[in-house]
Amino acid sequence: FASAAPQDLVIIGGGPGGYAAAIKAAQLGLKVTCVEKRGALGGTCLNVGCIPSKALLHSSHLFEEAKNSFGKHGIDINGGVDINLPAMMKHKMDSVNGLTKGIEGLFKKNKVTYVRGAGKLGGPGEVAVELIDGGQDKIQAKNIMIATGSEVAKLPPVPVDEEVIVSSTGALKLDKVPEKMIVIGGGVIGLEMGSVWRRLGSQVTVVEFLDRIVPGVDKEIADSFFRILKKQKMKFKLGTKVVASRKEGGKVLLDIEASKGGKADTLEADVVLVATGRRPFTHGLGLEEAGVKMDKMGRIDVDDSFRTSVPNVYAIGDVIKGPMLAHKAEDEGLICAEIIAGVGTGHLDYNCVPGVIYTHPEVATVGKTEEELKEDGVEYSKGTFPFMANSRARTNDVGGDFAQGMVKVLADKKTDKLLGMHIVGPNAGELIAEGVLAIEYGASTEDIARTCHAHPTLSEATREAAMATHGKPIHF
Ligand code: FAD
Ligand code: NAI
Repeated sequence: FASAAPQDLVIIGGGPGGYAAAIKAAQLGLKVTCVEKRGALGGTCLNVGCIPSKALLHSSHLFEEAKNSFGKHGIDINGGVDINLPAMMKHKMDSVNGLTKGIEGLFKKNKVTYVRGAGKLGGPGEVAVELIDGGQDKIQAKNIMIATGSEVAKLPPVPVDEEVIVSSTGALKLDKVPEKMIVIGGGVIGLEMGSVWRRLGSQVTVVEFLDRIVPGVDKEIADSFFRILKKQKMKFKLGTKVVASRKEGGKVLLDIEASKGGKADTLEADVVLVATGRRPFTHGLGLEEAGVKMDKMGRIDVDDSFRTSVPNVYAIGDVIKGPMLAHKAEDEGLICAEIIAGVGTGHLDYNCVPGVIYTHPEVATVGKTEEELKEDGVEYSKGTFPFMANSRARTNDVGGDFAQGMVKVLADKKTDKLLGMHIVGPNAGELIAEGVLAIEYGASTEDIARTCHAHPTLSEATREAAMATHGKPIHF
């Protein structure tokens, strides 16, 4: 059967890009349908990404705090603390289910039609849907937005079975704490999920191909982060590649070698997490038949207005170029909806998209790194301020690591315009919003330094780092 009314916009994919675009377009008066095949809205982010990982990061952090830090704050837990993993997982699922159902509610409120099924491009102006509950549908669409996200990239020597060799999806639902865990990839997923299981009791070793962790993050911040993680007893094998894997007697054995060739070794683990990146999800969409062009990296090619090579077909989020982040997907979705509705001339400044790693302490960055400025030949001034000299960080000190880390500010040497802000430290993910806004508004570091910041707050460290770019901070 064919859906009755032709739609102004049909969105394929109900992740943070697609669902936000659907709501925005409906608010702008368009008739919108969102097609999602997973049986729940929210995409990777809400179902198997941002939200469940942050639930486990927070729960495991509370456990570590209770174990290591409560005593220092004068809170005695006489019976000791223990983990109830099923209860922790239930809390995670309650968060996920509450939020995904919430989006269904928002769809109803904004009159977005939700179709549960797998969508693909049909003929021109048509989306064909294989419905989850059986049968097919054809929806006529004036415009189509592809927001199908990404999937785990395969690492051929280490095939994922989601039991003992897991991707992030399996690592979010292990039914017991592995004694030894090896994480392949010292990027965001590896360090976040590695932190969860380390806190819950696993001995975690991270195997990273490069000679540093979190490539792309400002090197000074990454080095500080690396030292903190090592102090937390996370182990690292940098400059190392995995060449083969096998399962023996309930264990996983990994053959490793130096990345540049040479020294070989074998590691043993109860669980291996493969976290070496994600790739755009483009299967089964009929892209080739419809003539939608892809780039060399398998992403859908779009112009600055998210238009693909086919008229009235747009694409946003993880399936196109740029960082694979929920807030980037959401912002692209909102802007693309406005473009389709013919309002505004929005564009996204990718230099102002923040990146956050939700470990403890957190890492947050926006704008240019010091390495990028050097490479571009930009003359810059730099200010840093350590949390050790921030009164709130000192007062809250938890397990000795709350006061670790620093804020780093980079500014144009001549104009003092803020070019980058990089933080490793407590609540860095919240603190970075000030840097994002400052860069968006073209602020100088003097603007930040002359802005009154409440005392005692962690944000005073940001102000003092800004002071340090053109003079001296007060407290260090
Ligand atoms: P997705 O969220 O992937 O959504 C796409 C949706 O399209 C999916 O639900 C899929 O089922 C559906 N779909 C695909 N094909 C079809 C089809 N043919 N028909 C119908 N539906 C289809 N980002 C952050 O910013 N912060 C974080 O803290 C964070 N944590 C993460 C943790 C993990 C473990 C992972 C894996 C990712 C994390 N990310 C995080 C990244 C974030 O999840 C993605 O960047 C974001 O979800 C991308 O949004 P999207 O809408 O482009 O795609
Ligand atoms: P990533 O790109 O962040 O990190 C992958 C790491 O694996 C890199 O350090 C890379 O050098 C290393 N690597 C690649 N191949 C390797 C090999 N063969 N052996 C050893 N190491 C190898 O990718 P990750 O962590 O899988 O995350 C995927 C995406 O999900 C990221 O793009 C990220 O943006 C997003 N994400 C975002 C989060 C956040 O915003 N907090 C949390 C989790 C994921």
